[in-house]
Amino acid sequence: MSEAAWQIRPERPADATAITALNAASFGPGRFAKSAYRLREGVAPVAGLGFVAMEDNTLLGSVRFWPISVGGHEELLLGPLAVHGDQRGRGIGIALMQAGISAARQGPWRGILLVGNEPYYAKVGFSRLPPGRVRFPGPVDQDRILGLSLKGGEMLSLTGQVRRAQIDAPVCADGAALG
Ligand SMILES: CC(C)(COP(=O)(O)OP(=O)(O)OC[C@H]1O[C@@H](n2cnc3c(N)ncnc32)[C@H](O)[C@@H]1OP(=O)(O)O)[C@@H](O)C(=O)NCCC(=O)NCCS
Repeated sequence: MSEAAWQIRPERPADATAITALNAASFGPGRFAKSAYRLREGVAPVAGLGFVAMEDNTLLGSVRFWPISVGGHEELLLGPLAVHGDQRGRGIGIALMQAGISAARQGPWRGILLVGNEPYYAKVGFSRLPPGRVRFPGPVDQDRILGLSLKGGEMLSLTGQVRRAQIDAPVCADGAALG
């Protein structure tokens, strides 16, 4: 099998426009109404945890992580994760998440939450949280609330209301700087 030509590298400021366009194309205008976007609104993504997939100087995929407050502790929310429509199925999504998760393990967080499709995210270690353990703002399908422990088993003690982290920078909900 030939080696993948794409590579994962940390996100740079100059990637922001391409990432915004990718997220808009992947999720559509309805994305801003989702619970996860409410948690991102007005909050900057975590610096150092954004990764992109590049091939021939073209951005093929992106993952970012947001800080969230879970029962008063700062944890992480994975996403947006997106890969260009004609590049899916090449392992890029999994590789982006693995890069982000591995960087997140170096930080102070206990766990990562996300709202998504369990069969896909189980490939990088996510599993369903017991129903009612954490509460997202707005309506969220309990079966799609997934978690990953960054420090042995600490995810199990994650409980409570999920809220926006401290507002620290004027950005819009997919991470593009305003103004
Ligand atoms: C979801 C997404 C990021 C996946 O990216 P990708 O680069 O195609 O994923 P990968 O190639 O790394 O996937 C690898 C594996 O996951 C599987 N997979 C991909 N999407 C899946 C899904 N929605 N459900 C279950 N399995 C899925 C693939 O079949 C593949 O399995 P295999 O290794 O057994 O063949 C991409 O489809 C996308 O951008 N979708 C639109 C945006 C989106 O929905 N983002 C997620 C928000 S919850």
